[in-house]
Order: sequence, then C-alpha cells, then structure tokens
Amino acid sequence: MKRIKAFAPATVANVSCGFDILGFALDSLGDTVELLATEAPGLRVKSITGDGGKLPLAADQNTCTIAIQAMLDAMGSQQGFDVHLQKGLPLGSGMGSSAASAVAALVAANELMGNPFEKKDLLPFAIEAERAACGAAHADNVAPSLLGGFVLIRDYHPLDVIKLSVPKGLCCTLLHPNYQLNTSDSRSVLRDRIPLKDAITQSGNVAGLIAGLFLADFGLISRSLKDVIAEPYRASLLPGFDRVKTAMMQHGALGLGISGSGPTLFVLSEGPENHSKFEQEAKRIYAELGLQVDVFFSTINTRGGYSIDSETE
Ligand code: HSE
Repeated sequence: MKRIKAFAPATVANVSCGFDILGFALDSLGDTVELLATEAPGLRVKSITGDGGKLPLAADQNTCTIAIQAMLDAMGSQQGFDVHLQKGLPLGSGMGSSAASAVAALVAANELMGNPFEKKDLLPFAIEAERAACGAAHADNVAPSLLGGFVLIRDYHPLDVIKLSVPKGLCCTLLHPNYQLNTSDSRSVLRDRIPLKDAITQSGNVAGLIAGLFLADFGLISRSLKDVIAEPYRASLLPGFDRVKTAMMQHGALGLGISGSGPTLFVLSEGPENHSKFEQEAKRIYAELGLQVDVFFSTINTRGGYSIDSETE
C-alpha cells in the first residue's frame, strides 16, 4: 500500500468535572490526512487546507508529522511520508483540532506500515504531538479521537485508558463562537492548588458522571456535570458564558460546560428534541454580545479515527 487517507473526529475534553481525564468523540466533524509513502526518508507536510494559512508546514512543528515521527522513532524506522492535511476543525476552538490531525496522521501511517501497532498503542505518539502543540501532554482529546466513545484516562504514568459506556440517546450540541482561544492561555489562568473541599466535590462528580454513563441514568449525568476546578477561572475568558449556560439549562440541557479549553461550549441532552431551541437561544445571546456562533449537533462517535481510502502499488 502506497497512499492512504484517514479521518479522525472532533472531541470534547474535560466534560466539565473530568479535567484532563475525560473526553468523548463527536460524529461527522473532524480532520482528514492523506499520506503517501515515499522512497526518500523524512517527513514533509506538502499541503494544508482549511486552516487559513495559519498552521506550520515545518515537520518539527506540525502535529501530524510530530506524531508520525514519534511512531517511526519507536519502530526504529526511516520510512518517509508526504502529508496532505485537510482541516475540518477550526483552530484554537476547543474541539480537539490539533488532536484530530495527529490521530488521523497516526491511523494512516500505522496502516501504511502494515499495522505494527494496535490502535490504543498509538496513543503515546499522539500525546507527544499534544505536548508540542500546547505545552501540556494531555490525552483527553487524542484518546477519544483515536478510540471513539467516552474515554477515561485513569493515569498518565503509565498510561491507563478506559473506554466508558455511552448511553443510547445521549446527544451533544456544540456552540462555537467565532473567536480563537489557545489552550496554553486557558491553562495559564488555572490554579495549581485545589482546596480539599473542591477536590471532594470534583471527585464526587467524576464518579457520578461515570456511574451515570454506565447506568444510563440521565438525572445522575446531569447532576454530575459540574466543574469547580477549571470552569470558575476559565469562564471569565468566555463572554456570555453564564447567560448561555442558564438559558441552555432552562431549555432542557442535562448540562453545559466548556469544551476542552474553549471557547466552544458543549451542551449534553437526552435525545435531539431540544437542539433547535439551544441553537436559537445561543444565536440570540451571542448576537447581543456582538459575536457570531456556529452550532453543530452530534451524536457520540463510538468508532474513533479510521482509514477511509487507500491505493496499493
Ligand atoms: N484538558 C485540556 C485542557 C483540554 O482543558 O486544557 C484542551 O483541549
């Protein structure tokens, strides 16, 4: 096999109470990477579309090539690749944009190399790309983008990643206001010490959310979608956050939180029925603030990254 295309989905990291340890994957939104195996060694980013010219082509700066290089280093391989990246996700949006590029690249490279790695074993290479992209080696975007569904990162040293249950009917509305926020900036407002009472509240909510997913108990999921560690500090970076949250809860949301490091907000709901009300209200509130918002509806993607098309020699 010489050429292959792979897709990796957008993700919602943190899911309110699971800062750096929980994430889930979305359907239809994501990035596509086409790889061509070359005779010459080395990695080359040949083209990027959909990024408005903002992403680096340099192989040591692009998350696709950083991830592939980490994989090749682990194999001791000199294989060369030309990379074509189609961005389907906005940059700095909190929708796991850098993660989707890295995961799509890894899925494609692994397949072109004859699948030397199981899918889950590609994770450390994707985490290296996240470290380069935002300075923090967090896995709560790359793990769900790779594996699909709801994912818990129980530990990072060594990695212990668990796929959680996804209750039937769980739906997500994404509200993406049209401005950019870098993960490193939204991490810089966080505190590095957590009062004991907040640690207790947060652990109760993470445990409750996971139990709610396995029990398909939407009431428990709703009660558990609370974050006392990141949201109180990050909300100040997000115009209209409190108003939008109050409106979505009034219109039947199970919960609303910051998707990853923002500015996108995610709304979880039982079934799709309230989606158009969420959209209408979000558009009204953001318009009053002078902001445009893109609204996406998605079910939970349980498949993760996958190859879509290949050409053999
Ligand atoms: N857990 C990371 C953060 C996700 O909140 O900083 C970034 O998308």
